[in-house]
Amino acid sequence: MVYLDNAATTQKPHQVVEAMTDEYFNVNANVHRGVHFLSQQATDLYEGARDTVRRFLNARSTREIVFTRGTTESINLVASCFGQAFMKEGDEVLITEMEHHSNIVSWQLLQARQGIKIRVLPITDDGELILDNIETFFNERTKIVSITHVSNVLGTVNPVKKIIRIAHEHGVPVLVDGAQSTPHFRVDVQDLDCDFFAFSGHKIYGPTGIGVLYGKEEWLERIPPYMGGGEMIKTVSFEQTTFNDLPYKFEAGTPDYVASTGLARALDYVSSIGIDCIEAYEKELTEYAMQRMMEIPGMKIYGPKDIDKHDAVISFQVGAIHHLDMGTLLDRLGIAVRTGHHCAEPLMHRLGIEGTCRASFALYNTREEVDALVAGIQRVQQMF
Ligand SMILES: Cc1ncc(COP(=O)(O)O)c(C=O)c1O
Repeated sequence: MVYLDNAATTQKPHQVVEAMTDEYFNVNANVHRGVHFLSQQATDLYEGARDTVRRFLNARSTREIVFTRGTTESINLVASCFGQAFMKEGDEVLITEMEHHSNIVSWQLLQARQGIKIRVLPITDDGELILDNIETFFNERTKIVSITHVSNVLGTVNPVKKIIRIAHEHGVPVLVDGAQSTPHFRVDVQDLDCDFFAFSGHKIYGPTGIGVLYGKEEWLERIPPYMGGGEMIKTVSFEQTTFNDLPYKFEAGTPDYVASTGLARALDYVSSIGIDCIEAYEKELTEYAMQRMMEIPGMKIYGPKDIDKHDAVISFQVGAIHHLDMGTLLDRLGIAVRTGHHCAEPLMHRLGIEGTCRASFALYNTREEVDALVAGIQRVQQMF
């Protein structure tokens, strides 16, 4: 079997699964709740995992690392809490035409509640952001920019550092959706100077159900909690509640403390190989795949042609063969690719298509697997 659906989720290394099994069998206890030995051990693992994430993102402090269920929850948290604190009717969020639904619908929910406006930065036909007139998208009602680092459909790597600089010149904070960047190249939140950054554990060799919201301390201090419950409070009475310090203010209820251990081991695994090494390998593999795929008559590849702007995701269409037929027949040949709108329906409308086939790579994929994909596509073509 050739697994080329890594942008949806990655396979898990032994270290990750074993660390989680070990925690369930040998440590399991609720965190932050008990003076007893096991609870302290579980808490050490949980807080140790937070520090591993801090180092991975190069955040200043663990106070800036909030565990969530994933990118979706992280974005919803910011839309909801930042929106409540800083946005009124008519205020604007700036997103792009290539966003995943999680970075569209979260803001639409806020729109329905508070009457905010969603403005959308356009893209070229090659799937790159049009930034020439980005200044015209800022005005006194612009309160936040929320953009994806890498498109999960086009593979476009967006110049987020530049966008953050421009937004900051207008006094506007930026949330970066890092679901598709963290697994593939180095992310340094201090260097980017982003105000918020979201990613999912399961896309970077970690378990499902765990993700991260990085937030600059000054912003996390200023926005209200997302959910109420245990852990996020300091004192509670029927009249009034005071909230816990960062990051616990945003971590109501029992967290997934076993998944956080799994995520930490996944990040250790990535770091032990070297994220720069992974980036170089995947770039070479993606370039090879694009070259080989372009040999196929009728092949259309979406997204930037320049490999330096194109991450390890290739969306394609072959002649008139429907993407669903292509994906189903490739599956019969043992090749797993994604088909459909990839949770980016507005982008599909912009491109004038219903969907694509998408092959997405991880560090364990090989040239032989790319060859198998190309042979598979050619076989499907023959069938048609
Ligand atoms: C760019 C992007 N943002 C957000 C998400 C949502 O991630 P999750 O489902 O892990 O919350 C995805 C998932 O595919 C994604 O590719």
